[in-house]
Parts: sequence; C-alpha cells; structure tokens
Amino acid sequence: MNVIPSSTSHLGAVGPVYTDTHVSSPFPYQFLLLLVLIAPLLYSFVYNAILNCASPVLSINIFPRKIVVTDPSMESALSRHTSETSLANVIFLIGRRVFGLSDSSIQAIGGYDPRPVHVGEFSSASNARALLAAMAETTGQKLQSQPDVQETELGPWLFKLTSSAVASALWGPESPWVVDEEFQNQFMELSGSQMTLLRPFSKYTAKAAHTARAFIINRLQAAHANNRASRVRQIAHRINAVVMSDPEWESNKDYFNVELLTSLGLMVTPSTMAVWMIRHLLLRPDLLDRVVKEARNPDALDEQGNIDLVRIRESFPFLAACLYETLRLHMTAIPRVAKADFDVAVPNSQPIHLKSGDLIYLAMSSFNRNTETWGSDASTFSPERLLNNAGGLSASMVRKLRVFGVAGNLCPGRKVGLETIMYVVASVLREFDIENPRGEREQYPEPRTEDGFGIGFERCANDINIRLRRVA
Ligand code: HEM
Repeated sequence: MNVIPSSTSHLGAVGPVYTDTHVSSPFPYQFLLLLVLIAPLLYSFVYNAILNCASPVLSINIFPRKIVVTDPSMESALSRHTSETSLANVIFLIGRRVFGLSDSSIQAIGGYDPRPVHVGEFSSASNARALLAAMAETTGQKLQSQPDVQETELGPWLFKLTSSAVASALWGPESPWVVDEEFQNQFMELSGSQMTLLRPFSKYTAKAAHTARAFIINRLQAAHANNRASRVRQIAHRINAVVMSDPEWESNKDYFNVELLTSLGLMVTPSTMAVWMIRHLLLRPDLLDRVVKEARNPDALDEQGNIDLVRIRESFPFLAACLYETLRLHMTAIPRVAKADFDVAVPNSQPIHLKSGDLIYLAMSSFNRNTETWGSDASTFSPERLLNNAGGLSASMVRKLRVFGVAGNLCPGRKVGLETIMYVVASVLREFDIENPRGEREQYPEPRTEDGFGIGFERCANDINIRLRRVA
C-alpha cells in the first residue's frame, strides 16, 4: 500500500452528508489530484470526510471527474464491482509526475489486472514461506551487526531494518535497500515526500523529492548492472509491468521507475507500522513488558533456537494484538479508480453513477474507529480489546478490522506483511533492551501524526531517541 503524509486526527463522526459541489473549471485533469492532495482549503474538507464519512456516500464533482468517498455501509455494494475498480489505475493520476513514467508504461500498468499475478506471488503457501525465510535471515544478520550499545533515532532505525527485511525477500539480499545506507536514507526521504512531486514547478518546489528520486533510480540501475543474474530471478522482477509489456525492458528506464513505485508500495506500510507500534508500546511500559516477555519466551523458538515462523501468531498473541491495534489506529483510506462506467447501489438513495476515471476513496478508518464497534475509547491504543478470554487473538474482533483493504479487494501480501513486522519487532525485543536516554523515569513524548492528506496510512511526525542495549 502506498504512502502519503497524512493528517493528524479523527474528529468523530460528521452528520449525514450528500454533497454535490459543481465547479466548472478549465483546469486539466492532472490538477485534480494536485488540488485534492495539496490545496489547504480542500484538504480539511475532503480528508475529514474520508476519515469520518458517516453518510453512505459523499460525492464531490469538482472537475469533469467525480471523487466519491464511501462509508462502511457501501462495502457490500462496492465489493460487487472489484473488477471495475482498481488500485493500479491510480497510476494514471500520478504516474508521470511522481514516478516520471512514460505514457506507454502508464498504459501498460493500467492496462492489465495485476491481482492474479500478485496473489500467486505473495499468497501461495510455498512463496510466503520462502519470502519469510529470506526476511528472517536478513533481520538476523542486521541485528547481529549492531553495536552492543547505541543511541539512535527510533523511526529511521526501525524503518530501515523493516524495509531491508522486506526488500531482501522481494529484491534479494544484495539489493540496495539491504546493503546501501545512503540509498536507504534517500528512500526514506522519498517515502515521506513523494507526493510533493505533484506540486506545480516541482523541480523548484519539491527539490528534496527530485534529488532523492534521481539518486534512487541511478543506484537501482547500478545495482542491476552489478547483480543482474540474481535480480532477474526475484519476485520484484517478475511483477514488473515493464518486463511484461516491453521486450526491450532492460534498456527502458521505466523498469527502474516501476521498481521504485513497487518498493514504495510494498515496503513503506510494514516499516511505518512497525515504528508506530513501538511508539505506542514505549508510552505503556506495562504493555511493553508483556510483549518483551512473550518475545523472550523460549517456548516460541524452533529446534534451532530461532523464532518459529510457522507458529508466530500462536506464539505471540499479545504482540499480534498490538500490531492489529496499531493498524486499526493508523490505516486510513484506499483510493480506487473506476475502470468503466457503472452504477453503485446506495442504501435508501438513488444509485450513484460512476464514469471511467472517477476516483473512489474507501475509508477504512470509519470502520476502525467506530465507537459502536470499538467502544468509547476507540481512539486509544488498547490491544487487549483484540484478545479473547483465553488470552488468544480474538478472530471475531480481528474480522471487524479493515486494515488490509475494503470492498472485496484485499492486500495479497497481508500474511507476509503481518508476520514480517511481528518477526522484526520480536527479534529486536529479544536481542535488545530499549532504554530512554533522557532517564528511566522520563516519559517519551506522545507520537504525533504528520499533517497532510492521507491515503493508505498515517505517518509519525515526531521522532524520539532511544538507547538499544544488547541483552546479556
Ligand atoms: C502490514 C503491512 C501491510 C498492510 C497494512 C497492507 C495493506 C494494503 C492495503 C490496504 C491494500 C489495498 C487493498 C485495496 O485495494 O483495498 C494493499 C494492496 C497491496 N498490497 Fe499490501 N499491505 C501490507 C504489506 C504488504 C506486503 C509486505 C506486500 C508484498 C509482499 C503487499 C502487497 C500488496 C500489493 C501487491 C497490493 C496491490 C493489490 C492490487 O493491486 O489490488 N502488501 N495492501
């Protein structure tokens, strides 16, 4: 899932709204996204509507296109239209400006349905096992190479560790996300600033993102030249739309632009969620102690003394509850683009007519922060709510979450993503104590959410320093 810096808070449910604001304008279509994402006036209106949408549908006709924000009651109606709505088609809106893609690559990406390929690559039991094994090996090596005591900023440290674990599984252990520190820094920079590339005159108004993007593409090209044989065997190569559409893919610069797009899509969500989870736990030492005890329980290990990946959810139910609770609080909304004209049934109202190219936002947060489902403390981090009486993960509560997608389209990497975060965090907590360098009695600051328009998930705005001390 993609990352865009996101807004702070969920402001509680708004009253029923059906807005149909027609503003005729000569602007070209690409400015639609630009305005929606950036214009401060539209920002709070649309974003709060997305987070809090309490009516069946909020429809905004600003340009020739429509933006439709839906709420939970629309889920079953929309799930009948998964083939007409697509996440990949968002590339028509942002592909050129954010990723520098040519029109032919944009057509290639938008022109096929990647879902069957993705499901095969990420969800099959044998592939998921192989991906998790590669991820675990890199995590182990990275943690081994850490100093016994270090002070560091939690966010970048954990983001890089988690993204290198995912990258080693999808791009291979010699990929720059794993071995190249400077590349990782630029990748992290771009993961936070990619949408600034939609600004007008972005060469001047989004310099950091431009520099990071150019740096990354150059290093990806160099890494490809140096490790070609192993790279073309990796999943990331097999799912690259340029490989599928252009026999001359190797000399097509878009091959690397698509690599960047894919990596931002697949690595940043797990990495950001790992950081959020530890931030929440550091504010609640009682919960952190419980997770640490679970992570260090020798019964969770396999015969070789490693965390048993096959049983990871059963071994670490409280850690799993903390992770789901983190996703509940920080996953926001999914954009989809209509691929054809169709009508969607709206409860107690006229059907809504969507035209090819209209944008649909599916608000996950309106499920996840609904006080009727989650209680009056729905905005509080409280992982116990996801446990059953026996202390296991409550399947019925987990089913109420919408964190891996809505309306019939689910993340094909959900098992790998969830288990990667659990493995990385459990491994860190097995190997290291986390200390507050400002003193044991000092409280960490509350994490704040980045301002900006949010699609997918929220990012944390304020970092903290921690001391990591290897457990004797
Ligand atoms: C905790 C981590 C993750 C979360 C919360 C997450 C969440 C999501 C969400 C919400 C979507 C959009 C689904 C929709 O259209 O409704 C999505 C799509 C996707 N995710 Fe994930 N994801 C995670 C990790 C991963 C990982 C590790 C991979 C790959 C190994 C992955 C692969 C994908 C792909 C390929 C899609 C696009 C599917 C399509 O084209 O329809 N995800 N993810």
